Amino acid sequence: ETGLFTYDPGFGATASCKSAITYIDGDQGVLLYRGYPIDQLAEKSSFTEVSYLLMNGELPSAAELAKFEDEVTHHTMMHESLKAFLQGFRHDAHPMAMLAASVASMSAFYHDTLDLQDPEQRRLAAIRLIAKMPTLAAAAYRYSIGHPIRYPRNSLGYTERFLHMMFEVPSEELELSPVIAKAMDLLFILHADHEQNASTSTVRLVGSTGANPYASVAAGITALWGPAHGGANEAVLKQLAEIGDAKNVAKAVERAKDKNDPFRLMGFGHRVYKNFDPRAKIIREMTHKVLGELGVNDPLLDVAMKLEEFALKDDYFVERKLYPNVDFYSGIIYKALKIPTEMFTVLFAIGRTPGWVSHWLEQQVDPDARIGRPRQIYTGSPKRDYAKA
Ligand code: SDX
Repeated sequence: ETGLFTYDPGFGATASCKSAITYIDGDQGVLLYRGYPIDQLAEKSSFTEVSYLLMNGELPSAAELAKFEDEVTHHTMMHESLKAFLQGFRHDAHPMAMLAASVASMSAFYHDTLDLQDPEQRRLAAIRLIAKMPTLAAAAYRYSIGHPIRYPRNSLGYTERFLHMMFEVPSEELELSPVIAKAMDLLFILHADHEQNASTSTVRLVGSTGANPYASVAAGITALWGPAHGGANEAVLKQLAEIGDAKNVAKAVERAKDKNDPFRLMGFGHRVYKNFDPRAKIIREMTHKVLGELGVNDPLLDVAMKLEEFALKDDYFVERKLYPNVDFYSGIIYKALKIPTEMFTVLFAIGRTPGWVSHWLEQQVDPDARIGRPRQIYTGSPKRDYAKA
């Protein structure tokens, strides 16, 4: 009983809602955004086009895309007081803490998007979140390394603008690599939505109470932070570094099978995919291409490849249908793109924002949507009268 809906989608789960946005077939390893296969979008689309598709249900014409991109570009700057808010954190604050707090605080800055009965205010809130997430993310990173927070350069495209805010320093011109920009845009596409994952379900649950979109998405950011969910990409890199060398892989795989050891292979397994995560396949190929083009020779990639080879042959993993997921390779690419480890989950949040806001918008106009109220199996004391021993 989820309290939202009790649909039985026919495979033994209890669906928490209806949605027309993303379809996953976990057994076949299929992922469709509004009906389009993820591999086709990865090859042919862009992150802003995919964001439009998720929000509106159809691919935009060239004119519609240009208008959407202009609108997003118009909203990339943050309120100066929001910038001051970010600068109130300790320098060693984790950027996910800063991102969650600053997104929640947007409801205190942008009052013209809080009337949820007004479709235009709802749409503008979605645009603002997509537009400002990179600005807030880059600002959190820059603050943490003691560099000046950079303003968004609106002459750049969405992903280039983010990279510029992340890496441009006053003392020199930033040479933006097209390879890095293309890889980052593709990674954002692959993370854009994923049905009712923990963070999206959180956005829907919070949104179902009538909370504003900034509060709902901030809740999603905090859910994403966990190492079992979006925090896995950061955990994968740490784990590969701990394993250190391909010769230690066999021991790591044995540890992951030991029920008395909390050690799990980060980047492996999935609540829904019991086959290869289609995104992992795309990222795996992109990893080799990007590292080759950048001339990066990362020993952690060798460890990852050996880990994958061992796990895919091991009965324990095969029987439990544990395959590499989206997080297994993304960290290696982020590292090659010189993204600091503590920013990995922040990048996941930038990519997932169009999915979160699309689900929030969908829920706002669903006549069947009610407040989320999951039920429980009670395991406590039977009824008893008050008496003290
Ligand atoms: C994401 O939901 C989404 O869509 C999420 C996501 C998205 O786009 O939003 O796809 C992104 O979060 C991907 C997942 C990232 N997390 C990790 O990589 C962390 C490592 N993975 C595990 O924590 C785990 O696989 C989960 C959390 C992802 C899934 O957990 P489940 O559903 O509880 O795992 P399961 O019940 O299907 O596991 C079955 C068995 C269990 O053993 P038995 O009790 O049957 O003996 O497999 C074991 C588990 O202990 N197992 C693992 C394992 N994952 C599951 N054993 C070793 N290493 C692992 N990684």
